[in-house]
Amino acid sequence: MAEGQGRLVAISNRVGPLNDEGKAGGLAVGLSDALKRRGGLWFGWSGETSEKGTFCELKTEVQDHVSMTTIDMSAEELEGFYFGYSNRSLWPLLHYRLDLAEFDRQSDRIYRSVNQRFASRVMPLLEEDDLVWVHDYHFFYLGSELRQCGFKGRIGYFLHIPFCPPEIFSALPASHDIVRALLAYDVIGFQTDTDRRNFVAFCIRELGGEKLSGQRVRVGDRTVVARAFPIGIDAQGYARFAVSPEAGEHEEMLHDLTRVRTSNPDADGDAWRKLIVGVDRMDYSKGLLERFRGFERLLEDYPENRGSAQFLQVAPLSRSELDAYVELRRELEEMAGHINGRFATLDWTPLQIMTRGFTRRALAGIYRAARVCLVTPLRDGMNLVAKEFVAAQDAEDPGVLVLSRFAGARAELEAGCIIVNPYNTDDVAGALQRALNMPLEERQRRWEIMREAVFSGTAAHWCDSFIDALARGADFDEPEASE
Ligand code: ADP
Ligand code: F6P
Repeated sequence: MAEGQGRLVAISNRVGPLNDEGKAGGLAVGLSDALKRRGGLWFGWSGETSEKGTFCELKTEVQDHVSMTTIDMSAEELEGFYFGYSNRSLWPLLHYRLDLAEFDRQSDRIYRSVNQRFASRVMPLLEEDDLVWVHDYHFFYLGSELRQCGFKGRIGYFLHIPFCPPEIFSALPASHDIVRALLAYDVIGFQTDTDRRNFVAFCIRELGGEKLSGQRVRVGDRTVVARAFPIGIDAQGYARFAVSPEAGEHEEMLHDLTRVRTSNPDADGDAWRKLIVGVDRMDYSKGLLERFRGFERLLEDYPENRGSAQFLQVAPLSRSELDAYVELRRELEEMAGHINGRFATLDWTPLQIMTRGFTRRALAGIYRAARVCLVTPLRDGMNLVAKEFVAAQDAEDPGVLVLSRFAGARAELEAGCIIVNPYNTDDVAGALQRALNMPLEERQRRWEIMREAVFSGTAAHWCDSFIDALARGADFDEPEASE
C-alpha cells in the first residue's frame, strides 16, 4: 500500500486467482498483477451457485497480502445477472454489436438487484478511508448502491471493455439510468481515449452535461473525473515466465513441429515451417472467423506458404451456455475443417484449434515459439494477449505482432506492429505475408519499440495512476491529450 493512501478494495465479478493457473480473461490477469503488489481486499463472485445465492455466507481466502472474499449467486441470479443482462445485453452492445444485443426487463431487474446485494454484502467490510475500486460492466450500479448504504469514502470505477458511441448505447432501455448511476463514482476509468470520449459525448448529448477542463465532466450537480487508464501486464514477471522451464518445454515442443522443411516446391529452397499463433477466449468480439478467412486467403494468394505456415489458434471456451457462443464454436470448427480439408497434405495440417487452458508460463512458451501473433478483434477494450506476446519475445529472434485497428492496445503498440482491418480479408492475408517474411533487423527494431511501451505501461503503472487519481478526487486536474 502506498504511504498515506487507504486500503485498496477491488470489487469485480471474477476474483483471482493470484497464482499461475490458466485463467482466460484480461480483468483477472490485470487486477491480480496489480493487487499482488499492493495488497488489499478483493471482493466478488465465488464462481459457485447455491440456493441462498447472494445471501450466502462470505468465503475468504488470504494469499500474498490479498484477502479474497466471495459470495455465491443463486441459479436465477446467475442467469439474469451474468448470462442475461451482462452478457446478452451489455457485452454485445458495448462491443458495437447492436445486432446481437437482447433486452428484457426481467434480467434488467435481476442485474440491479445483484448490484444492490453485492453493495450491501461488501459494505460491512469497508473502512472509512478505504479506496474502493469497482470493475467492469457487471457492476455499473454498485457505486450508487454503496452511496445508498452510506459509504462516504472515495469510489472509483474502471470499464475493462469498450464504451460504444452514444448512438449505440442509447438503444439500451436503461442507458440513462446506467450513466446517471456511474456519476456516483468519483473517478471513471476507460481503456482508451475513444471510450472516454464516447462516454463524455453521452453525458453531453443525452443528459445535458458539460465537459469541464482537467478531464472532468459535469451532469447536474455531479462532477466526475473521466479519464483513460490503459491496463497493462506485469511485463518483467511475464518475461521471466517466458524463460521458465515450463515455457521452454512448450517452446521446444512447438519447435519440433516447425523444424520441418516444407515439401512445397513453391516455397523458398530451405524454408522451415513458421508458426502463427492466436490466443483468445472463444468470443465473437475476437474476430476469429474473419481471422480464419484471412489465413485461408494467405494460402490462396501466396501459395508458397502451403506446407510452411502453421496456424495454432488457442481458444478456450467462454460463456458456452449462450446461443451466440455455441453458434460461433460451430462455425469456427466448420471453417477449420474446411481450411484443413482444402489445403492439408499428408505431412502438414495448416490450422489447429484447441480449447484447453494453459498456465501462464506454458502460454509464454507458445508465444515465444511463434513467428507471428495474430490479434485481430473486431472490437476489444485493450487486449492483453498482444502485450504478453511482446513481453515473451527475446531480442535475438523476436516475432511480429499483427494487430487489429480496433483493439485498445493499438494506441500503445501501433508504432511497432502491423495494423490491420480485421474485416478486410486481403489486408489480413497481406499483413501475414509481410510478417512471415519480415527480415530479422526489422523485426528487432519493431519489437524494441513495442517492448518499451509494454514495459512502461504495466499493470502496476495502471493501478498506481488510477489510485492516484482516485485519491486526488475533485483536485484531479490534468489536461486531455488533445487539449
Ligand atoms: P479478454 O479479457 O477479453 O479475455 P485479453 O486479451 O485482455 O482478453 O485477456 C485474455 C487473458 O486470458 C490473457 O491474459 C491470456 O493470456 C489469457 N488466456 C487466454 N487464453 C488462455 C488459455 N487458453 N489459457 C490460459 N489463459 C488464457
Ligand atoms: O476483460 C473483459 C472480461 O469481460 C472480464 O470482465 C471477464 O472477467 C473476462 O473478460 C472473461 O469473461 P467471463 O468473466 O465472462 O468469463
